[in-house]
Amino acid sequence: MKVQIKKALNEGALQLLEVSDIPKKEAMIFLSEVLQKETVWLIANNDAIVDIPQKYFDFIERRATCEPLEYILNKAGFYKEEFYVDKRVLIPRPETEILVDKVVELASFVENPRIVEIGTGSGIISIMLSRLLSDLHVRATDISSDALEVAKLNAEKFKVSNKIDFVHGSYLDGIDTQIDILVSNPPYIAKDARLEKNLSYEPSLALFGGEKGDEMLFEIIDLAFERDVRFLVCEMGYDQKKPISDHVAKKGATTYFYEDFQGFDRGFWVDLGKRR
Ligand SMILES: C[S@@+](CC[C@H](N)C(=O)[O-])C[C@H]1O[C@@H](n2cnc3c(N)ncnc32)[C@H](O)[C@@H]1O
Repeated sequence: MKVQIKKALNEGALQLLEVSDIPKKEAMIFLSEVLQKETVWLIANNDAIVDIPQKYFDFIERRATCEPLEYILNKAGFYKEEFYVDKRVLIPRPETEILVDKVVELASFVENPRIVEIGTGSGIISIMLSRLLSDLHVRATDISSDALEVAKLNAEKFKVSNKIDFVHGSYLDGIDTQIDILVSNPPYIAKDARLEKNLSYEPSLALFGGEKGDEMLFEIIDLAFERDVRFLVCEMGYDQKKPISDHVAKKGATTYFYEDFQGFDRGFWVDLGKRR
């Protein structure tokens, strides 16, 4: 359909007003994707009348139902890299970069650290770790075989398939060897929490951590102690600091917390080698 670029963008943005804080920008992202042109090109050619593929209007229609942009375009940014995503996996969140940074920092205290991730989803954490830490072999579990398919695609994309063992199973099932660093961004939302509509597109296995939300985190903490792990590093909900700190303290260790980019409590690490 021949439409002026400006008109296509304005009409698209209008349909996205209720689902996006940046409707015009999102319309531009979709148009730039279907036309395979940079957004600066769209701005420079605002008045041009071009053939706009139906796909653009389909994208806008899907987004107007609140479907996340990342699922529509099958890509999400993490660490300035572009990962493949679809509705089988959680969309990577920027705060998870802090979790990766923390593991990289702690890895310098262990020689040839044996790292295991629980709940790898799209694979972003294990893939970034195997890229950032040389000579590292990571093992990554997920209870969802669908998610593992996406993780494997991403590992291939970043050429690190030979550095990661993906294991289909719950928690540490299938991993019997010693672990130096256990990392996880597990589901940590309470079962009955009211969610924004866009979250309803993400897999519930990736979101809900139990009745209160912190149950999976507790299980992971217990496993870290049982397996005599050196460091445990996890992401968590902004309101879970106290129960986690109390749970770890009962086991004789100290929890160190970090905040996300908005200043909310978002994660923690424990040095199990320093128990009282
Ligand atoms: C919050 S998502 C995190 C995905 C990814 N690591 C990230 O940071 O974007 C949690 C992941 O844990 C997986 N999961 C849920 N329960 C699990 C379990 N019992 N054992 C292993 N993985 C589990 C889900 O399938 C999901 O992929």
